[in-house]
Amino acid sequence: MNFELTEEHLAVQQAAREFAQTELLPGVIERDNEQKFPAEQIKKLGELGFMGMMVDPKYGGSGMDTISYVLAMEEISKIDASVSVVMSVNNSLVCWGLETFGNEEQKQKYLVPLAKGEIIGAFLLSEPEAGSDATSQRTLAEDKGDHYLVNGTKNWITNGNSASVYLVMTQTDVAKGHKGINALIIEKNSPGVTVGKKEDKLGIRGSDTHSIMFQDVKVPKENRIGEDGFGFTFAMKTLAGGRIGIASQALGIASGAFELALKYSKERKAFGTEIMNHQAIAFKLADMATEIEASRLLCLRAAWLKDQHLDYGRASSMAKLFASETAMKTTVEAVQVHGGYGYVKEYHVERLMRDAKITQIYEGTSEVQRVVISRDILKG
Ligand code: CAA
Repeated sequence: MNFELTEEHLAVQQAAREFAQTELLPGVIERDNEQKFPAEQIKKLGELGFMGMMVDPKYGGSGMDTISYVLAMEEISKIDASVSVVMSVNNSLVCWGLETFGNEEQKQKYLVPLAKGEIIGAFLLSEPEAGSDATSQRTLAEDKGDHYLVNGTKNWITNGNSASVYLVMTQTDVAKGHKGINALIIEKNSPGVTVGKKEDKLGIRGSDTHSIMFQDVKVPKENRIGEDGFGFTFAMKTLAGGRIGIASQALGIASGAFELALKYSKERKAFGTEIMNHQAIAFKLADMATEIEASRLLCLRAAWLKDQHLDYGRASSMAKLFASETAMKTTVEAVQVHGGYGYVKEYHVERLMRDAKITQIYEGTSEVQRVVISRDILKG
């Protein structure tokens, strides 16, 4: 067993770290305050090759492995989780879904500009009444011969307004339940598509989250991904990889908060010494460091399994479950280490604490991850 990163991995990690420090740190508080979408930063991330990291270069991607993706996601998320969620959805849900299950025409038309970062994509599964219970899709795609007629509403869509291309889960045959679901590629500017209001969120406030409405939207049959009825399997398989991305985001939020808490505890004095010398603080730092390391290993193991083409569903859910709980716990403790300073925006940890919460919710709540893990264990 080799725990060492390669030269290439270290170079990707370093590039992401530098990008986060120079391009993301300045302005991160303002973007959070103003709920400003990081358009410029995402454009630069695309130029760096980070919007299609794992995509084959012949489709405009960087051809990197999933381990590189975890390392980059951690570094970007330490500073700005609003940027890393855009990156994660584009890389692991949209690009991976299209590259793995799309046909050649779909790849040429949509994957190439998405992987180059020229356009952004979104993944539309959640509905007002289908969140964790993802089989209960209500958005209808009526089969009209050469096209589908789509009607319905999707909720909580990351990149809802900034994306040009949507991957949309729709129900074609209600009687067939989840076997009647199809994944369709729908362009945002298609007639009948309306972007709802931007959600005013607790965290990841720079990212744009919207509901999307479809009214009699005509979608050509060639925009269906895979065979008729493949949509639910498509969503589940794609989300299994997506969860590695969100686990790495949670890891980055936790390690970002830890680094700030460590630095502060070396500078701040109380009762005649730096607060790191008090066991009350030192033990917090020890717990944070241990749980972050465990999260990192879970993320890297899930990524390694995926890169080896081995089954990674259980591993990605374990990584997401543990890393997101660690992010929440660590950021709360990092605020505590900072005392009153932790409660104001200037010190960054309160934002990381707000950002951490979503990692326990999207791409499957912690409860959904426990369902996936326990079912996999119990099936033997
Ligand atoms: N791969 C392939 N097939 C799978 C699968 C997988 N990973 N997981 C399930 N399936 C199949 C099952 O085998 C089953 O098929 P059969 O009936 O043919 O055997 C079918 O799908 C239904 O599975 P279940 O009976 O297990 O379904 P369930 O209703 O009990 O729910 C669930 C399972 C795990 C809870 C699932 O609904 C789920 O993952 N829910 C959460 C959805 C989610 O993550 N949403 C996130 C939205 S996207 C997002 O957040 C992006 C963003 O903006 C950041």
